[in-house]
Amino acid sequence: MKILLIGSGGREHALAWKLAQSPLVKKLYIAPGNPGTASIGENCIIPAEDVSELKAFAIANAVDLTVVGPELPLTLGIVDAFEEAGLKIFGPSRSAAEIESSKVFAKAVMKRHKIPTGYSKTFDDITEALDYADTHTPPYVIKADGLAAGKGVIICHTVEEARSAINLIMKKKAFGSAGRRIIIEEFLTGEEASFLALTDGKTVLPLAPAQDHKAVFDNDAGPNTGGMGAYSPAPVITPALEAEIMDTIMKPVIAAMESEGRPYKGVLYAGIMVSGNRPKVLEFNARFGDPETQPMMMRLESDLAELLLATVEGRLAQVDIKWSPKPAVCIVMTSEGYPGEYPISREIRGLDKAAGLKDTVVFHAGTSFREGRILTSGGRVLGVTALGTDIKDAINKAYAAVKLISFDGAHYRKDIGAKAIKA
Ligand code: AMP
Ligand code: GLY
Repeated sequence: MKILLIGSGGREHALAWKLAQSPLVKKLYIAPGNPGTASIGENCIIPAEDVSELKAFAIANAVDLTVVGPELPLTLGIVDAFEEAGLKIFGPSRSAAEIESSKVFAKAVMKRHKIPTGYSKTFDDITEALDYADTHTPPYVIKADGLAAGKGVIICHTVEEARSAINLIMKKKAFGSAGRRIIIEEFLTGEEASFLALTDGKTVLPLAPAQDHKAVFDNDAGPNTGGMGAYSPAPVITPALEAEIMDTIMKPVIAAMESEGRPYKGVLYAGIMVSGNRPKVLEFNARFGDPETQPMMMRLESDLAELLLATVEGRLAQVDIKWSPKPAVCIVMTSEGYPGEYPISREIRGLDKAAGLKDTVVFHAGTSFREGRILTSGGRVLGVTALGTDIKDAINKAYAAVKLISFDGAHYRKDIGAKAIKA
C-alpha cells in the first residue's frame, strides 16, 4: 500500500515511524514532512494546506490511503475533496471537523446531547460579553470560537483580566475571525487527560490515554503551549473512568454527530478534566494529539496502517488494539521564547549520540536541513521519547537522551511525568 501522510510536526514523525513498521506499507510519502520523516519515507514539498496539490499528488502517485495529521487541512475540507475524487483518506469531513474548529458548535452539541462539560455562554456582541464578565464572579475561561493554535483560551482570575481578554479577542481581533464569537466558560479544576478514540462512525475504539503538559514552565507555570511533554498511560484514567468516558462522552458524541447529519470518522480527541473522579470535556480535537502521539506510538504494538485503513473502510468492529504495558514519556525541547517569538536556524548537536540509545526515539518537529546540518526552524523543535520498564525508568531514559542534545537557547520542562509518579 502507498500512504501519503500530511503534516510536518512531531506527531507526524511519530505516525510515519509507526506506519513504516507495517508490512502493508510499501511506500510512504510525507507532505511536507521534516528531517525526521525524511529518514523514514519520501518528503514531498507540498504544504499541508494545499488541498488541490495534495489531491493531484495522490492521484498521480496512485496513493492508496492518505492520513491527515493537523487540523487545518481538515477544516479546509481535504477529506471531502479526496472522497469526491474516490480517494481513501483518514480523517473527518469538514462539517464533522467543526467539533474542533468551532468551540461554539462543540459546546452546542454537548449541550443538546447532555455530554458532561463546563457551564458556558456564547457571545457575538462585545458589550454583552463585557457586561457578563462584570456581573459574574471569576475565575472563568474565555475562548475564541475558531482555531487559534492553542492560544485562543485565556484563563481569567479577575474581572480586569476578563475585560482585557474580551477586548483582545473581539476588539483587537488578536486571532482574526476566530474571535468573532467567544465563549465564557466555568473554570474547572482537577487533572487533565487526553482521551482519544478511533471511529468509523459506528464503532468507537478507545486508544491508550495520555497526559499532556500544556504550560511552558515547570509546575504548570507560564502561558499555555501546544504541549511541552506527554506520557502514556495516564494513571488518572482508571479502568472505571475509561468506561465512564466511553459511555457518557465518546459514544454519545459520535452518535450525536451522526444524528446531526455530520457523521464523524477518523480519530476523535477529547481533552478531559477529571474532577472528583468525574470527567468533563474541555475540548474536542478532530485529530491526533501533539505531543501525545509520540508516546502513544512508542507503546502501540498493533499495525497502525491496518488500524487506519479499517477506520476508513468501516471495519473497526472487527479490530483489536494491542499496547505495550510499558509506559512511554515524551519531553519536548523548544526554542527560547516559545510560545511567544523565538529565534530559528540554531544548529542542533548530539542527535547522532541520542540515536544510539535503546528504547528511545527523537521525533523531529521544528527542524530543517542545511548543508548537512540540522537546524531549529520552529517553536517546538524535538520530542525526545522513551519507553521504560516503569514510568520512572521512561522518564530517566528520556531525560538522559535530552542531555545529549543541545542547541543555543534550548528549553524543556524538568518535571514531565512527575504527576504520574505521584499517582
Ligand atoms: P482547550 O483548547 O479548550 O482545551 O483549552 C486549552 C487549555 O486551557 C486546556 O488544556 C486547559 O488546561 C485549559 N482550560 C480550558 N478550558 C478550561 C476550563 N473550563 N477550566 C479550566 N481550564 C481550562
Ligand atoms: N497536545 C494538545 C493538542 O494536540 O491539542
